[in-house]
Amino acid sequence: MEIREIQLSDAAALLNLRRQLEKETRFMQYVPDENANSVEKQVENIHSILKSGCSMIFVAETEGSLIGFTAVLGNKLKRIRHRASVIIGILEKYQNQGIGKNLLKHVDEWARDHGIERLELTIMAHNRRALGLYNTMGYYVEGMRRNALVIDNEIIDEFYMGKILKR
Ligand SMILES: CC(C)(COP(=O)(O)OP(=O)(O)OC[C@H]1O[C@@H](n2cnc3c(N)ncnc32)[C@H](O)[C@@H]1OP(=O)(O)O)[C@@H](O)C(=O)NCCC(=O)NCCS
Repeated sequence: MEIREIQLSDAAALLNLRRQLEKETRFMQYVPDENANSVEKQVENIHSILKSGCSMIFVAETEGSLIGFTAVLGNKLKRIRHRASVIIGILEKYQNQGIGKNLLKHVDEWARDHGIERLELTIMAHNRRALGLYNTMGYYVEGMRRNALVIDNEIIDEFYMGKILKR
């Protein structure tokens, strides 16, 4: 298994990965088929991320297939350019093998090298595995957004989590 920065040529594979994740888990943002991105749109997104200098996507690849990814999405505005949001997803078959932890280590290293001092994310309050991963990686719960989501008619709270990177 290799972890590396995304390339433009990963556009179709990343789209497939995200679609598969949306089918497998209720913990990601979109429901299946809601993410209507085309491959062309995905190429544009990757291109703008790669040239931004404040954002990056890392992919986990095994035997030529993408099996997980993490995105660190930063800002250009002067007052908030020290912070970035994190998203992560790993296919079910490859979970619990340390890949999530490894991806987030890449995020930390990349963020430090790019002047980012704060990482943040939101997480559904009942997502115990992700909570365990983020705690292990030094993220703390900073607040709760009550009744943040409605999934299959169930009302879900969300935690805000953050991590301060030491200079
Ligand atoms: C959440 C997710 C990213 C974790 O990645 P992973 O590769 O399965 O996790 P890892 O194997 O790297 O585990 C890392 C740490 O998470 C914690 N962890 C793992 N499974 C756990 C569980 N069932 N309960 C609590 N903590 C758990 C442990 O602290 C573990 O560290 P340790 O093995 O050193 O003790 C992955 O399971 C996933 O993509 N889930 C579906 C999508 C999702 O929930 N995305 C996050 C949305 S906020």
